[in-house]
Amino acid sequence: MEQTLPTRAHRGDELTLTIDTLAHGGAGVARRDGYVVFVQGGIPGDTVRAVVGKAKRAYAEARAVEIITPSPDRIEPLADHPGAPWQVIPYAKQLEIKQEQVDDSLRRIGKLDGYTLEPIIPAVQEWRYRNKLEYSFGTDDSGQLICGFHTPGHWEDIVEVTDCMLASEAGNKAREEVVAWCRAQGLGAYDRRTSEGFLRNLVVREGRRTGEIQVRLVTSPGKLDSDSLIQATPSANGLLWTRLESLGETTMGGQTALLSGAEQLEEELGGLRVSISAEAFFQTNTEMAEQLYALAIEYAELKGYERLFDLYCGIGTIGLLMAPRAAELWGLEIVEDAIADAIKNARANEIDNTNFFAGDVRLVLRELVEKAGRPDVLVVDPPRAGLSQKVVRRVIEAAPKRIVYVSCNPTTLAPNAAQLVEAGYELTKVRPVDMFPQTPHVECVAQLERRSG
Ligand SMILES: C[S@@+](CC[C@H](N)C(=O)[O-])C[C@H]1O[C@@H](n2cnc3c(N)ncnc32)[C@H](O)[C@@H]1O
Repeated sequence: MEQTLPTRAHRGDELTLTIDTLAHGGAGVARRDGYVVFVQGGIPGDTVRAVVGKAKRAYAEARAVEIITPSPDRIEPLADHPGAPWQVIPYAKQLEIKQEQVDDSLRRIGKLDGYTLEPIIPAVQEWRYRNKLEYSFGTDDSGQLICGFHTPGHWEDIVEVTDCMLASEAGNKAREEVVAWCRAQGLGAYDRRTSEGFLRNLVVREGRRTGEIQVRLVTSPGKLDSDSLIQATPSANGLLWTRLESLGETTMGGQTALLSGAEQLEEELGGLRVSISAEAFFQTNTEMAEQLYALAIEYAELKGYERLFDLYCGIGTIGLLMAPRAAELWGLEIVEDAIADAIKNARANEIDNTNFFAGDVRLVLRELVEKAGRPDVLVVDPPRAGLSQKVVRRVIEAAPKRIVYVSCNPTTLAPNAAQLVEAGYELTKVRPVDMFPQTPHVECVAQLERRSG
């Protein structure tokens, strides 16, 4: 049933669509008579045949199943990889789009202007840049165990990966060792439809500078022969096993046991030596994290007398790189293991003007200001959802002279920045950094200054 785009689409409709632009998040956008269809797998200039998934009154979501006429910009994909949807767009064009999307968010969503938009910092490596991959186990049509990524549009199915082009060769080797062992042991995958089965996920993390590899196998409750797993995975400097009871697709929580080697991964970053716990956040592109942090340092404009807050500090990396340029550092983060790492990292690097606390920014920022005093410079690096309105209010109450906002989502940075501008701050400059080539993810750093008077 092929048809041109009706005023409203319905689930299951097959449509022929021409893509005009790319939405935030990466889907292609096709429009007719004010009705918008977001098309996964389509880029501007493509005419595609697409199948509608979710359909609402004002818009629908669809998946391209055939490229009828390719965009003149389209290039050959390098790898069948669900984690690299923008690989069909030349890299220079990807950078251009990301730069525009940051500007568009700030202007359209935040209604902001008057800031300097500095040029995007391109990635050092266009491929094999990730230091952490979370794979999922599944079963192929012949019943064989496979390991890879969720199939776009068919979340319960897994696409096998044999050479993940976003991971290094060493990271790929570690994955293959574990998968070969699982097959030899006859272990079966967790079935996401029935919530039954053993093998769920495999998390491979790499110290890009140290060459260390951390492997964490995530399963349902059950037994495994840990001695033979240790023998079978010589690549792993640390081997961990997490048993999860929950039904959801997560690698967090559960019970984690160290089977062999080191519990933490060791890495070097911007001259710091850091330890990273299995559940602690660490920027997934080490080389670009250095550039992101260098930009945050530049935007902080520290003179040496400042009381500095690092909110959502993870294992402390941003604050620890800034602390030698400030009088004192106060870091806040919700994951206790990450704070334990931050304290250890401060000691290991002999940085002694630091104070790290575990807590929810939303609940304890006021208390932190009472204890530490008002910050001169405040750095925030929240998850994709950005800052809640309440957190922005607490930041305004804390009244730092300067705010450095490290954002992994310009569509949440924009309303947060607008709220800060409304309260008397000026958005002075913004610079995107490409941490994730071949994907629509955009990172940027923004500087906000408190207007005097
Ligand atoms: C984008 S990461 C940034 C981490 C760190 N700044 C870095 O560069 O490695 C966001 C961090 O916020 C933490 N987090 C999430 N919600 C939080 C909350 N409500 N209060 C404090 N920390 C939170 C996460 O655990 C994570 O470590």
